[in-house]
Amino acid sequence: MKLVKLIANLGYGSRKEVALMFREGRIADPDGEVLYADDKVPHEHIRIDGEPLDPPAGIVLMMHKPLGATCSRKDQGRVVYDLLPPRYRRRDPALSTVGRLDRDTSGLLLFTDDGALLHRIISPRAQVAKVYEATLASDLRGDEGELFASGTLMLESETTPLAPAQLQVLAPRTARLAVTEGRYHQVRRMFAAAGNHVETLHRVSVGGLALGDLPAGAWRPLAADEVAGIFLPALP
Ligand code: URA
Repeated sequence: MKLVKLIANLGYGSRKEVALMFREGRIADPDGEVLYADDKVPHEHIRIDGEPLDPPAGIVLMMHKPLGATCSRKDQGRVVYDLLPPRYRRRDPALSTVGRLDRDTSGLLLFTDDGALLHRIISPRAQVAKVYEATLASDLRGDEGELFASGTLMLESETTPLAPAQLQVLAPRTARLAVTEGRYHQVRRMFAAAGNHVETLHRVSVGGLALGDLPAGAWRPLAADEVAGIFLPALP
C-alpha cells in the first residue's frame, strides 16, 4: 500500500493532509532522514514528527475502562473512545470495542479492527470466559453457584436459558462470575434472578488475558502472544 494511503488509514489525516505532511518533511525514518510518499519502507521505520507510527491494521488494544464511560461511539457523556488519541476514531478499518461494558462497569475492555477476531472472542461457541468481580447488596445465600452452573437459568423476557457459568465466592458479599455469553446486563440480571443486587461490577479477565495492574483509564496495544493468550484457559 502507498504510504499516503497507509498513514491516512491510520487516522493521521486525509490523504491530502498526509501528502502535505510529506512535503513539510514531518515524516522521516528512525535516523531523521525525511521520507517521500513513493518510498518503500517497513511500517516500523516510519516516524511522524519523531514519533513511531501507530500499529497497522489488525490491532488489538486493552483498556482499563473507568466507571462512567460508555462503550458507544457517540454519547452525551464520556465515551471510551475519548480515552484514545482522536486519530484512533478515524482508522480504516474502524476500531470497535469487543462487546460492551455498562457505563457503571469497570475493568478489562478490548478493542480491535479485526472483525473475525472480535467474533471469535464474543461468540459463546468459542467458550472464552469473561470473569467479573461483583460486590453485592446482600450476603450470598449459598445456592447461587448451583443455579448459575445449571444451564437452565432463564432471565426475564428471554427465551433461551443461560449457558452454565461458574461462581467463585470470595467473601459473603463478593464473588467472581465467569460467563461465556454476553447478554444485555447479564451479570447484574443473573444476581437479580438470585434475589440479590450488584453494587459494583469489574471485569478482571477475558479468556487467559488478565487486566493486571493497568490503571483506570489507561490502555495499551496487545502483543501477538497476548492476543493468542485470550484463547487459553483463564488463570485460576
Ligand atoms: N454484565 C453486566 O451486567 N454488565 C456488564 O457491563 C457486563 C456484564
